[in-house]
Amino acid sequence: MLRTSTLRLLRLKQCSSHPTDSLTGSLCRSLTSGSGDTFHHADVQKNIVPFQEQNVDLEDVKFGQRFTDHLFIAEHTEGAGWGRPQIRPFSQGITVHPAAQVLHYGMCCFEGMKAYLGVDGRGRLFRPDLNMQRMYRSSRRLMLADYDPDELLECLKELLRVDRQWLPEREGYSLYVRPFMFSSAHSLGVGRPTRSTIAITLSPVGPYFSTGLTPIQLFLDEEHVRAWPGGVGDCKVGSNYAPTILPQSHAFKKYGTPQVLYTLPTGDRSDPESSVISESGAMNCFFFLDKADGSGQALITPPLDGTILPGVTRDSILALARAWGDIEVSEAYLTIKELKQASQEGRLREIFGCGTACIVQPINGLIRANGEIIAAPFDADSETTMTARMTRALTDIQYARVPSDWSVPFDDAKIEQKELFRAEA
Ligand SMILES: Cc1ncc(COP(=O)(O)O)c(C=O)c1O
Repeated sequence: MLRTSTLRLLRLKQCSSHPTDSLTGSLCRSLTSGSGDTFHHADVQKNIVPFQEQNVDLEDVKFGQRFTDHLFIAEHTEGAGWGRPQIRPFSQGITVHPAAQVLHYGMCCFEGMKAYLGVDGRGRLFRPDLNMQRMYRSSRRLMLADYDPDELLECLKELLRVDRQWLPEREGYSLYVRPFMFSSAHSLGVGRPTRSTIAITLSPVGPYFSTGLTPIQLFLDEEHVRAWPGGVGDCKVGSNYAPTILPQSHAFKKYGTPQVLYTLPTGDRSDPESSVISESGAMNCFFFLDKADGSGQALITPPLDGTILPGVTRDSILALARAWGDIEVSEAYLTIKELKQASQEGRLREIFGCGTACIVQPINGLIRANGEIIAAPFDADSETTMTARMTRALTDIQYARVPSDWSVPFDDAKIEQKELFRAEA
């Protein structure tokens, strides 16, 4: 593994490995000192439309293309403060002024979370406090209006209760929750937003990759970078995503890979293989390998140095693996050269991506532009791979098969009559 000291050129800002802890960093401190103004869940005004029985076969629905009957919205104007928060029909949409800053300067941030129907019949969220904190940090980075993330979480739970009947009943299926916030200020000036809109939509979804838990290959992009030292790679801001579409489409066209794995040059242009592995367009990545000195196995993911999104799934995987105690877990840089060598020596056991949308996605090869493949053979039938073990551990918590503080119920009422996880649901 490349030692952090050898990466000084990168001038990477070291943040804590834990999203919660990262809020205590100096950058974060300056971002969290807001005005104290907020909307309150107790004030939510509801305009409810009746649930329309849907005969949606989620297997046919692309990710994020169906929405529930309602959305949550609140608007803030400088001077007037927050207006009354609302849960209103999704069909009313959201109107923005043609000069709204979000349309011109991408002043927006968002979150991605999932609500699951637990085996106990209760709707559940997975570590929602971490998403709320990350959203808050992203929004403060963009100088959007201040609010209380705990209040946003309560508003989200209320929206989920309103649209509870949309919660899919089949394992692997869930309600994707998309909180987002943007500058709705009517001004073409590139300046501090004086008007902010915060909203949440819900979308019933199935597995993110149509291949499910079977492995995919990723294109290892050594040309484009997703994030850079001093940038906003650790925030979930819209501007981190728009530029990733082109490299992703090119890679898909040329190699058939659904996502790109980004790398970050260390400064040594004479040695392109000294670039470090970063993350994918929408997933953090883990590498499970036999250590070169024969002293055991290690699960490695890049450190939270400001260029990596502090994923909730990433954090959960690190915590679970550390608690298991049978493997070395480290947040460390891996160069292309090291990865290639591990693969050639048969030491690269597994690569997997992780994120709310896919949970854990096995990756059996990284395709380079020169045609070379860094292979990590994956046995999809084995129950004992790190990928399978981690998927089970996470989904057991998400669906409440195993009790955990990470699984947070948003309703008390069990739906008794429903047959959970019907095979044909
Ligand atoms: C760039 C990026 N990395 C990683 C992740 C995974 O984060 P999480 O586990 O919080 O969904 C996401 C998805 O949100 C992402 O967009």
